[in-house]
Amino acid sequence: MNINVAIDGPAGAGKSSIAKAVAKSTGYIYADTGALYRSVAYYTINKGISPSDKAAVVSLLDGLEIKLEYIDGQQRVIVAGEDVSDKIRTPEVSMGASVVSAIPEVREFLFDLQKKIASENNIIMDGRDIGTVVLPEAQLKIFLTASAEERARRRFAELKETEGITFENILEDIIRRDENDMNRTVSPLKQADDAILVDTTKMTIDEVIALLEKMIRETEERVG
Ligand code: DC
Repeated sequence: MNINVAIDGPAGAGKSSIAKAVAKSTGYIYADTGALYRSVAYYTINKGISPSDKAAVVSLLDGLEIKLEYIDGQQRVIVAGEDVSDKIRTPEVSMGASVVSAIPEVREFLFDLQKKIASENNIIMDGRDIGTVVLPEAQLKIFLTASAEERARRRFAELKETEGITFENILEDIIRRDENDMNRTVSPLKQADDAILVDTTKMTIDEVIALLEKMIRETEERVG
């Protein structure tokens, strides 16, 4: 039986770097579902459509092909034949992803793709609604969080070489995205009842990685 690990939590909690490292050391596939919402936002913006124009976004979904490929264990996202993996990391696409992710049709559109990957692999999947909606049957669910200030500090440390970016902008963005993600009606960001809360505010990345590796080993022993 495949083991599914669901990691949910707010923007900037370190989900992707941690999930990536843990997937590598445990031999699991890492699926970054935020990249799927980002891809829809990127495609929308590229077509000259505003992510908040719901009807226009929904009409774009018809015939849109999004594929996940794994090259040397690295996830690549292919949208309408184009590898967009690196282009979906801009602040504009981040905010657009948060907006399009509140559209129920967008969530439905991406649901089957996520289910399929999880059914075929031992997987660590991160997002906002993985433990609650996409993989409610996951054998291990983790809700990874940290204070908004700490998340902004970490993101700022990563991005500070980028021109025009300030700590205050990043903190504002994080707070706004948290609000969008937690207050939308469909699949809001929420800790599943059976998820383990991991608050990383005062932990190093290596401590979090070691903790998750231990949880996965224990899950493997439990599941058999
Ligand atoms: O994890 P991320 O920052 O790449 O996610 C981008 C946006 O996509 C985020 O604002 C919320 C949304 N998202 C979601 O609604 N559900 C998921 N499973 C993953 C991401």
